[in-house]
Amino acid sequence: QRPLCRLLSCPGTVAAALGREEQSLGSAETGSEDRTPKKRFSEVQKERREQAQRTVLIHCPNKISEKKFLKYLSQHGSINNHFFYESFGLYAVVEFRQKESVASLQNVTRTPSLATEAAVPFRSRYFNLKLKTPLNQTSEQPSIQCRTQSSPSSKKLFELLCCAESVDDQLNTLLREFQLTEESTRLRYLTCSLIEDVAAAYFPDCTVRPFGSSVNSFGKLGCDLDMFLDLDEIEKFSTHKASGNFLMEFQVKNVPSERIATQKILSVVGECLDHFGPGCVGVQKILNARCPLVRFSHQASGFQCDLTTNNRIALKSSELLYMYGALDSRVRALVFSIRCWARAHSLTSSIPGAWITNFSLTVMVIFFLQRRSPPILPTLDYLKTLADAEDKCIIEGHNCTFVRDFNRIKPSGNAETLELLLKEFFEYFGNFAFNKNSINIRQGREQNKPESSPLHIQNPFETSLNISKNVSQSQLQKFVDLARESAWILHQEDKDRLSPSYNQPWGLAALLLPSVANSMSLAKKKKKPASERIKNLLESIKSSSTENSTATNGR
Ligand code: GTP
Ligand code: MG
Repeated sequence: QRPLCRLLSCPGTVAAALGREEQSLGSAETGSEDRTPKKRFSEVQKERREQAQRTVLIHCPNKISEKKFLKYLSQHGSINNHFFYESFGLYAVVEFRQKESVASLQNVTRTPSLATEAAVPFRSRYFNLKLKTPLNQTSEQPSIQCRTQSSPSSKKLFELLCCAESVDDQLNTLLREFQLTEESTRLRYLTCSLIEDVAAAYFPDCTVRPFGSSVNSFGKLGCDLDMFLDLDEIEKFSTHKASGNFLMEFQVKNVPSERIATQKILSVVGECLDHFGPGCVGVQKILNARCPLVRFSHQASGFQCDLTTNNRIALKSSELLYMYGALDSRVRALVFSIRCWARAHSLTSSIPGAWITNFSLTVMVIFFLQRRSPPILPTLDYLKTLADAEDKCIIEGHNCTFVRDFNRIKPSGNAETLELLLKEFFEYFGNFAFNKNSINIRQGREQNKPESSPLHIQNPFETSLNISKNVSQSQLQKFVDLARESAWILHQEDKDRLSPSYNQPWGLAALLLPSVANSMSLAKKKKKPASERIKNLLESIKSSSTENSTATNGR
């Protein structure tokens, strides 16, 4: 049993330190038997999208009366929900009950008359509130409660982790602190909806959908906002009327390839965002990339946005990850910790390069959990066998079918602790034959590598592709070395369990904090044959893990 509080500076119990009331953690606290009904991905997307369409974003003066503000807005209809946040100023997100209220508010807004600049008019749902009589700073206003959009500082995280009761508690704490809050999720859908308004100037009936970590349940506060411009609805709309005599000769313009079509569409939407997109700054058109995109900052929300088009497979991958994340409460906790661990050691980066990506890391965790005995997660092929006619999904010739109803998937009988899984994850990949084998979540077992990239992780839907083709041998080696060291640290702790050293980071904290990484690299520099030392240590880990795995297999 861990001492409740190992650090003298610890601010109290974990619950008190967290200070978060209504975080919908869902499953993480209930172990593997989570019985909360889970919504399908498509249902969540539909509800959130519709909610975003009834929502407005308002830049407010720093001092306002919340009561008066709400009273004023209520003239346009009832308000379902609202919250304030700070991002270079005070902002309010206000969700009306009816969509008509937004139009009513838009009708009473005016275009600002600027002294030195000229305005390009655009009817948006992003307003600026100017009070005729500003409240003076000393007036007795209760201060506005702002919802934080950022993750805790390293210091706070360190305190929280050191105060946890067990490694399992540490992993769940990290998840609770870093996962997207309800407000951040709302703001993400709202931002997509605002961008959709701009894109609709060119493509009426288009949809801008979030994908990636904003929706796959593995998003960390502050992660980028991936969105894609979906023009499929327009196509569907025109195919409905297949029987008429009139063909829309001017509805399409033919271009030589799908890629060129994508580039042209993104190019004009990029221009629109640059010229008319309220709050869109630093618009960059990256059209020659493998997956062409427009990158920009949405100032008001503070999100770094990547807009692509023709990216249905990526949305389907997000749905698959969402499904895996919801199947067992340990999945998200483990993925968050591995992602944070990788970030702390600079294995991942926000700059594209030869590093491993969060997407690849997530797939590696899923694969590892499929390999447990009994498995914690089913294979993608098994999920495909459970699918019914409605689940059928073929995108660009790729079969992306899998069951979407959670009730048809039996929960895992595996009851391993997060602590064990974390340790075994590092051991598993510390000893994985990356030179020979490919990681394959479709079949849930290693496959011979079809090509020579250092790291081969099969793309779950475009099965001839490798999602980690960019990873260099040296980055892979760094991952393996750190995995081995981390496994060793956790093993050492097991031994020291009876004599805990106070004021020392332990468990996940020992693996995450940069100070530990630094001291490890310092140790490496000081002791020349560090790799020898680690190799020997690993031998001992390996022999004990062989014993363990024999025991597990024999169960
Ligand atoms: P973070 O942004 O790092 O938090 O994670 P993310 O999952 O959002 O990753 P990223 O923004 O890099 O990519 C967004 C989504 O695009 C991922 O979730 C995947 O669905 C998809 N994606 C990213 N990289 C690849 C890849 O190499 N191959 C394929 N098929 N899809 C990818
Ligand atoms: Mg992303």
